[in-house]
Amino acid sequence: MEKEKFLWGGATAAYQCEGAWDEDGKGANIWDEFCHSAANTTGITADVSSDFYHHYAEDIRMMAEGGQNTFRFSISWSRIVPKEDRVVNEAGLAFYDRVLDECDKYGIVPNVTLVHYDLPDYIGHKGGWLYDGVSDEFAYYASVVFRHFGNRIPLYVTINEPSHNASCCYMVGNYPPNEQNMQHFAHCAYNMVMCTAKAVREFRKLNLAGAQIGIVHSSGNTEALHDTPEDRLAVKYGDMFSNDWVLDPAIRGYFEEELIEKVRESGIDLSFIKEGDFDIIRANTVDFLGQNIYCRNLVKPYKSGETKATVNNLGTNDGSADSPREGKTVKGWFESDWDPNVPLNRWGREVYPPCAYATLMKRKERYGNIPIYVTENGHGCYEMPDENGYVEDDERIRFLQEFIGYILKAKEEGVNVKGYYVWAPMDLYSWINGYKKRYGLVRVDFEDPERKRTPKKSYYWYKKFIEEHRDI
Ligand code: NOJ
Repeated sequence: MEKEKFLWGGATAAYQCEGAWDEDGKGANIWDEFCHSAANTTGITADVSSDFYHHYAEDIRMMAEGGQNTFRFSISWSRIVPKEDRVVNEAGLAFYDRVLDECDKYGIVPNVTLVHYDLPDYIGHKGGWLYDGVSDEFAYYASVVFRHFGNRIPLYVTINEPSHNASCCYMVGNYPPNEQNMQHFAHCAYNMVMCTAKAVREFRKLNLAGAQIGIVHSSGNTEALHDTPEDRLAVKYGDMFSNDWVLDPAIRGYFEEELIEKVRESGIDLSFIKEGDFDIIRANTVDFLGQNIYCRNLVKPYKSGETKATVNNLGTNDGSADSPREGKTVKGWFESDWDPNVPLNRWGREVYPPCAYATLMKRKERYGNIPIYVTENGHGCYEMPDENGYVEDDERIRFLQEFIGYILKAKEEGVNVKGYYVWAPMDLYSWINGYKKRYGLVRVDFEDPERKRTPKKSYYWYKKFIEEHRDI
């Protein structure tokens, strides 16, 4: 039997790169609405962004020429089901058919996410992730996608990063609907779990030979700097808060009783759990895990203060002790810790490559041999091109090289890693961090109406790296 090829590619998301926000029958989504509202104080939108909608052929060709054999992208729900009446927009399906045709042309394996933060606005108006009907609407949309594309898409993903998404929407409050409300956080989290289970149920009905379905999760492994009983408990609570509620139901089909009790003890009203839900969760688990790897979850025992999360969306962290950084306090659970020996990026997030190894080993320890795709890993930075638009992004190359090194170490030690995706194959919109925080292997000139693409040094580095590691 021919050895299965390791997948090497890049990942994007619809709202971040497509543009064409109201073209060909697309409905608005909550990000269109937020970006067009007064709440968006920067005025920056992704109305055009990288204009992938019109440049997809060029982008996919560049990925193929860069040696990449897989492409992770997301489908914009509001392109497919633009309105509440559930009528399907054929032009939306046709766009993704064209994208898949390009992938086929180069033998690129598509890995497709159903929702990457961008709920349709009509769902948003009913309460978004808190809307009681969100999981049924999502299952309907998912079934339209499964029926249309079938096993042309071998890897489907239900939701991108439930924990990060829920946290930004309802804990930090930097993504729409911009709330800080832990009751809503828990409700949103639960509805996301139900969305995955119900979408998987639709998927199984179709018996699509050769196609699999997974979930993409963002949080890394939880660690503490000390090894006391209190620290070990903080690590456990850190995992329950950031990892277990997403992965246990999706992969094992249940929440641990201890998690439910801890949430209840924290004063959360769990009446959103409906009779029969746990049966649906139990019967509909995923085939694979998509693990995004950026950083670990470094914690210490909870001491004091109300639940809160901090971020630095300004990119102003200069490494000094009082520069704003990313972290959390969860009352009665844990607090984030900082290791003075680990550098932070400009957005106040650790740059700590060994977390890639530790995260993957932890996943194997808890979830056995489940296939794992590293569905995102990448480095955001400010960049200056030369007069030809070329960027020497050595910092990114170093970051990727070190992280991939740890990922391959975990693979060698038995973790079932089957693919790796750089975030991102080209520059794109970085949510409220706008366009200055760049992640691409290919520069996009956002000032240019034609959105000229110029490969960066990292593009060529990745191409060579793939050539050397094609048959791992
Ligand atoms: C995770 C998200 O999936 C993606 O949308 C985001 O832009 C990247 N991380 C980079 O922060």
